[in-house]
Amino acid sequence: MTDLEKRSDRSPVPADWTYAPAPESTDIVRLQERYGLYVGGEWLEAAEHYATIAPRDESPLANVAQASEADVRNAVGVAREAAAAWAALPGSERAKYLFRIARILAERSREFAVLESLNGGKPIKESRDVDIPLAAAHFFYYAGWADKLEYAFPNREPRPLGVAGQIIPWNFPLLMLSWKIAPALAAGNTVVLKPAETTPLTALLFCDVVRQAELPPGVVNIVTGDGSTGAALVDADVDKIAFTGSTEVGKAIQRRVAGTDKKLTLELGGKAANIVFDDAALDQAVEGIVNGIYFNQGHVCCAGSRLFVQESIYEPVVEKLKKRMATLRVGDPLDKNTDVGAINSRMQLEKIEELVAAGKEEGAEIYQSPCRLPEKGYWFAPTVFTNVAQSYRIAQEEIFGPVLSVLTFRTPDEAVEKANNTPYGLSAGIWTEKGSRILWMAQRLRAGVVWANTFNRFDPTSPFGGYKESGFGREGGLHGLEPYLDFV
Ligand code: NAI
Ligand code: MG
Repeated sequence: MTDLEKRSDRSPVPADWTYAPAPESTDIVRLQERYGLYVGGEWLEAAEHYATIAPRDESPLANVAQASEADVRNAVGVAREAAAAWAALPGSERAKYLFRIARILAERSREFAVLESLNGGKPIKESRDVDIPLAAAHFFYYAGWADKLEYAFPNREPRPLGVAGQIIPWNFPLLMLSWKIAPALAAGNTVVLKPAETTPLTALLFCDVVRQAELPPGVVNIVTGDGSTGAALVDADVDKIAFTGSTEVGKAIQRRVAGTDKKLTLELGGKAANIVFDDAALDQAVEGIVNGIYFNQGHVCCAGSRLFVQESIYEPVVEKLKKRMATLRVGDPLDKNTDVGAINSRMQLEKIEELVAAGKEEGAEIYQSPCRLPEKGYWFAPTVFTNVAQSYRIAQEEIFGPVLSVLTFRTPDEAVEKANNTPYGLSAGIWTEKGSRILWMAQRLRAGVVWANTFNRFDPTSPFGGYKESGFGREGGLHGLEPYLDFV
């Protein structure tokens, strides 16, 4: 807000809504120049390293280990040695460690939020208010189950599996770590986790939380590296693989694991339908559409990337949406006013650019937020495509960026048919005043999560996961414990 316009008839109103910069200080984050592998409660040296950068300006942040096959095998061996003692602890003792981790995460939340935004490019507003509090909440939640497994699964004698290998993506680095590690430890397993190559730093800082919580050595092991490190973990002597990432890699992992007795859960891509009926509260729906696709730059597996608008309200919805998009503040992730931050990597930016070019080529009409993008770093303006046919690539493929495709429908039946016309099935949204229609739709949508009059809402008590090419298995809630347990 700058100049206030003086008017004699009423109190002053702001003439211009330009925000003054409000950068979050990065002083709280102390990075090492080089990181090793966190195995057995110690930092082990690795032969090779690579630089991890800040996507907002491409500056190097630290050098991170590229774990080899032998490094991974060693980490899994250490996790195996630690497994029996960890499983033998009373659940109430394991719970204490998980509560401790949750509290330390909450205490150090600002440090984690700043680092998450630095390394991943997401707005500090989101890492501060969503990622880190939810990460802590998952440890709190699963701590509560650790001594109640017999009650959670009565007459089934739940037992831990042993060692879990966990591979996570770059869109919610610490949150995905929590989704994986908290239920695994609560169930009595030890873990070897591999963060994504572009966002390893909060996982490496998490090792310091593990140390502070005095977790027995070997219960949590973190190995960094690229896809080859992930592949080595899949092939190592683990009892379970939990993977979140692309459908392509998910399928490759499923093939590798077939014929072994390793358990597997896959949380893969999505192309969610966000469906707006003509009786919906339009302003709220527009907020939900914006949150659905521009939250975390659209790097969200459950993003509402296909908007279905009932034909009778198509014009007002698109008009309101464009107006709202023009007010989105795009820029420095470390600025507390920023709504849309940096694209995570050059590779991801190129993928978004390719699909957007295909959308134009195929004949869709493009509108982009009139924002000024920083010169350095990876950026993409919030984008919406209208005039989209179901067959276009932008309506079929996961873009994983701030790009929305708008389609229309006339009847609820048509909405269901079009929404389900996708190889994916992770999430969906319904906007209507009618409760009966919400239930009717939710029963027919082939999606693991269906939101009604809201979008992108997460809670540790609520299971999350997909159908079809979005994967199988559930994370979160009681359902999220089951894949980490064996039963009689
Ligand atoms: P990716 O699936 O290659 O990476 C995810 C994780 O898997 C990373 O930790 C990576 O190192 C690891 N990985 C890669 N190859 C592996 C292999 N052969 N065996 C075991 N682990 C392996 O995803 P990427 O390349 O970062 O992104 C490509 C596209 O995938 C994105 O544009 C997006 O559409 C989608 N994606 C979906 C995510 C989701 O949450 N559903 C998350 C990340 C990406
Ligand atoms: Mg990949």
